[in-house]
Amino acid sequence: MQAVVVSENKLFALLDSFRQIVGEKFVLVDEESLGNYGHDETENLVFLPDVVIRPRTAEEISAIMVICNENRIPVTPRGAGTGLSGGALPHLGGVLLSTDRMNTILSIDERNLQITTEPGVITEVLMDAVKEKGLFYPPDPSSRGSCFIGGNISANSGGPKAVKYGVVKDYVLNLQIVLPTGEIMWTGANVLKNSTGYNLTQLIVGSEGTLAIVTKIVLKLLPLPKYDLLMLVPFASLPNAGAAVSAIFRAGFTPSALELVEIDALKIVSEMVGSTAVPVTDDIAAHLIIEVDGNNMDVLMGEMEAIGELLNQFGAGEIFFADDAQQKAELWKLRRRVAEAVKLAGYTIEEDTVVPRAELPELISGVKEIGKKFGFKAVCYGHAGDGNLHIRVAKPGSPNSQADPEIIAGLRALFQLVKKLGGTISGEHGVGLVQKGYMDIMFEKKQLDLMREIKKAFDPNSILNAGKIFDLV
Ligand code: LAC
Ligand code: ZN
Repeated sequence: MQAVVVSENKLFALLDSFRQIVGEKFVLVDEESLGNYGHDETENLVFLPDVVIRPRTAEEISAIMVICNENRIPVTPRGAGTGLSGGALPHLGGVLLSTDRMNTILSIDERNLQITTEPGVITEVLMDAVKEKGLFYPPDPSSRGSCFIGGNISANSGGPKAVKYGVVKDYVLNLQIVLPTGEIMWTGANVLKNSTGYNLTQLIVGSEGTLAIVTKIVLKLLPLPKYDLLMLVPFASLPNAGAAVSAIFRAGFTPSALELVEIDALKIVSEMVGSTAVPVTDDIAAHLIIEVDGNNMDVLMGEMEAIGELLNQFGAGEIFFADDAQQKAELWKLRRRVAEAVKLAGYTIEEDTVVPRAELPELISGVKEIGKKFGFKAVCYGHAGDGNLHIRVAKPGSPNSQADPEIIAGLRALFQLVKKLGGTISGEHGVGLVQKGYMDIMFEKKQLDLMREIKKAFDPNSILNAGKIFDLV
């Protein structure tokens, strides 16, 4: 199975066919458009496609795929381009297939608590639409204000609420997909339980656009919890903050968010947004952001108090309670913009490690030691309640690139530690282009070969997002 490399002449001869399918103005070949669709949020990587196509329907996508499959043209599907692993980068050129025009919520079924949507709907727009009806779609990645629900399906995204409510896979009931060979099909049924054959729906979730293009999505919804409370807890020691996290669950609490942000990251993001909401003094190493939600305010107050008392045993400093919606929004804004802020400050490589929750202190101490040994700075933040720690890496005085041998060696050491602790290298961002070189740490050849066989069954000519997750051999 070889990756296809496009011949420009061949592709340009097909432009008219693409124009007939989607309309003249939705086939873009100008330099500016190619540049706009040639990057995502992964470091500073850019790969220009040869053509950008913006279809409106599954039928149009099907017709495009038939042409690309016949002519062996690489196709890279793309949502909003907020990914952090290079999954939507058109690294082989060819067709960049954008789902940005497929942006309609098709129906909200209040009888069954389900929503059916197209993939190009912004996640927060979907969350707000169901909220208006008293319903709740929990998975809320930091980029929820700009990412697409289709991209969330491709990456099996998470976000802060995953700790209580689970990740995207826990909400996907059924998907309409277009195969690389052009067939349009549904993967399952709009039901809460399904033991009927292989679970094609869940195979597509998290497959990073390598198996099929998702064109309609049916999601499960929950009733919206009435109340939430939020507090910010400082710690003088980073590993202590990590140790406190698992103690909260052992004591019987399940917060609706339990985030950890190291002080360096908080300083950078506070400066970027001009906020003084979070204390960033030198005696603080990290803050935990803890949220509880439910329908009984007295119960929630009791929980917050009990969690606060427990945290004192781990050397917590003075706890700050967010009193009103504005304070809560400010804290969440700071948390959500950490990745963007530290990237601007030079921490361009973002990792997405995840370990069993109780191993978090070891991972945190290990990261710092590895950074010292391999000459890079690291800041940690993320979904501590899930054991899912984002680690951003900066190497002063060197172009901060995945090609830097010391960074590669350092990341290998980090991922080997993660593996030793029983974890894995991506919890919610996916493998894409930039993590695939480390898949040998997680999987043996037989496991990767099985994945390649699945890829081949869906995409016999390797045209769809080929060379992502693993190399084709
Ligand atoms: C976050 C994104 C980067 O948690 O996953 O901020
Ligand atoms: Zn995250």
